[in-house]
Amino acid sequence: MRALGIDIGGSALKGAPVDTATGQFLEERYRIPTPENLTPAEMASAVAEITRHFRWRGRIGVGFPGVIHGSRTMTSANLHPGFIDFDAGKLFSKAAGRPVALINDAAAAALAEMKFGMGRRFEGKVLLLTLGTGVGTALAYRGVVFGCELGHLPFHGQDAEKRVAASIRKKKDLSWKQWGENLGEYVAVLERLLWPELIIIGGGVSAKHRKFFKYLQPKAKMVPAGFLNGAGIVGAALWAAGEG
Ligand code: BGC
Repeated sequence: MRALGIDIGGSALKGAPVDTATGQFLEERYRIPTPENLTPAEMASAVAEITRHFRWRGRIGVGFPGVIHGSRTMTSANLHPGFIDFDAGKLFSKAAGRPVALINDAAAAALAEMKFGMGRRFEGKVLLLTLGTGVGTALAYRGVVFGCELGHLPFHGQDAEKRVAASIRKKKDLSWKQWGENLGEYVAVLERLLWPELIIIGGGVSAKHRKFFKYLQPKAKMVPAGFLNGAGIVGAALWAAGEG
């Protein structure tokens, strides 16, 4: 089965057709930068542009950085407020000319990691964190993935993601040590509540894990995501193909 996976992030939309049996991209990824905060209508046009770029006629899955209920986006912490309690699935499907299945971006990344990445064949409790513009979280256990919103856990009087997202390190000009120690403290809080056996760290910054893993001392085994930054696309395609 093939499906087009699209990952909506804080700074770009990225998409690629994926072979859902292997998790491989079938063509080179196509990226549309989104320097401005796109409205839902503008985002739908970008989804349509990716669909046209690949002349795609099959299933489409979109990973979105917010809570998803069915075809509705319920929250939008880092994107346009027009997505709050909005039927984005319907709008994207209309723009793309075919049904679009929506999934939370971190849940998508977890699907990909559990099927093809670092969680493959692991049967225990897994916590996946994606560190980007925000902090995405998902749990997995025995093949079931559950998207969470632990990036919004109250932490030092604010949402945790305002302190430990990868974007915050750059915005506040923190050293790897300062940021890594903040992240370590957050991970310790999550461990106290969830006791995962494996922690998978994803998002673009996971490629630089050598710079900050040393500042975290989790009880669980901690690994960078196998897909580094492509998990969202692969997971969205799996979701569309009904394999999530
Ligand atoms: C959103 C989550 C999302 C995460 C990563 C958070 O702000 O609330 O739904 O998974 O960012 O994009």
